[in-house]
Amino acid sequence: MEPFVFFGGKGGVGKTTVSCAYAQRCARDGHRTLVVSTDPAHSVTDVFDQPFDDSPQPVAGIEGLDAVQIDPEDEVTRHLDEIRQNLSEQVSAAMVNEINRQLEMAHGTPGAYESALFDRFVDVMRNAEPYERVVFDTSPTGGTLRLLGLPELLEGWIDRLMHKRRTSIDLFEKAAVGTNEPRRVMHGDPVLERLQQRKEFFEFAGSALDDDAAFFLVLNPDELSLNETERAIDDLTEKGLDVRGLVANKLTPSPDDNENGRGARYLRQRVETERERLETIRTDFEPPLVAEIGWRSSEIKGDLLDDVADELDIETAVEPPTHV
Ligand SMILES: Nc1ncnc2c1ncn2[C@@H]1O[C@H](COP(=O)(O)OP(=O)(O)OP(=O)(O)O)[C@@H](O)[C@H]1O
Ligand SMILES: [Mg+2]
Repeated sequence: MEPFVFFGGKGGVGKTTVSCAYAQRCARDGHRTLVVSTDPAHSVTDVFDQPFDDSPQPVAGIEGLDAVQIDPEDEVTRHLDEIRQNLSEQVSAAMVNEINRQLEMAHGTPGAYESALFDRFVDVMRNAEPYERVVFDTSPTGGTLRLLGLPELLEGWIDRLMHKRRTSIDLFEKAAVGTNEPRRVMHGDPVLERLQQRKEFFEFAGSALDDDAAFFLVLNPDELSLNETERAIDDLTEKGLDVRGLVANKLTPSPDDNENGRGARYLRQRVETERERLETIRTDFEPPLVAEIGWRSSEIKGDLLDDVADELDIETAVEPPTHV
């Protein structure tokens, strides 16, 4: 399968748990693996009971597995600082204050997290070596996964900006009278160079996501989660990203046959409702159901993670990336 594997889904369904379980199994199967997590609330740190930060570190006791914990807040700050740096080099001092004010506001705008995370994800894919497989545990907003469908759109937007910049430089060149140097020249123009870099970045993102990535959605057997999943599948398909499989998590366990108390009757009823929902998924949803993971009585970590990994019908074999 593709080297980059993404797990998405709505808040709390089990993305982090499933990402860690799958990453652990990839490593156990001998593939050097990195799991990238973005959720500060419940993350790789909790699952592996070990602190992680922004740079990859080995997961204790699991050969070949590293984990990295990205803080979306830090990413936004870094992202905006980079923009500030780039702009400050190109505009007058008077504009710098205004730009700083605008960027401060941008910090809280919707989409800032997703956009910063998108950049970071693409960076991780570009610099994936020495890992053979990278598992992305996406953020709960779902926006991140949706953003992954946008590189082509963004590339088109950059093309238009580059065209505008070229037209403007062309006018400056034409306007330069006699022996006066034009105020802007095409060759070595810093704005064009920066736009070109961004264009290449999105080109890479588009191809890597098309050819080297597989997407899975995690869901729970409830009405809300099913609806959300259906929307996410449509949304991703529309953007040209097909969902490879669905992971059903937190399924109610069946009581033993000889149990007939109130609790057992309740469980049986729930199991039946969930069975019908899973049937709906199998018949009405395009991507196959690749796992049915039972609801455990405790948090999933340690040996339980191996159990969950065994329940995932997702292959671990890796094809090398085509775009590096
Ligand atoms: N099959 C399961 N049995 C029992 N507990 C589970 C199971 N799957 C997940 N959990 C627990 O449910 C909680 C949420 O799981 P997890 O953090 O993996 O979800 P998530 O989709 O990553 O959440 P978020 O959207 O906040 O990132 C955690 O406490 C986790 O241990
Ligand atoms: Mg999570």
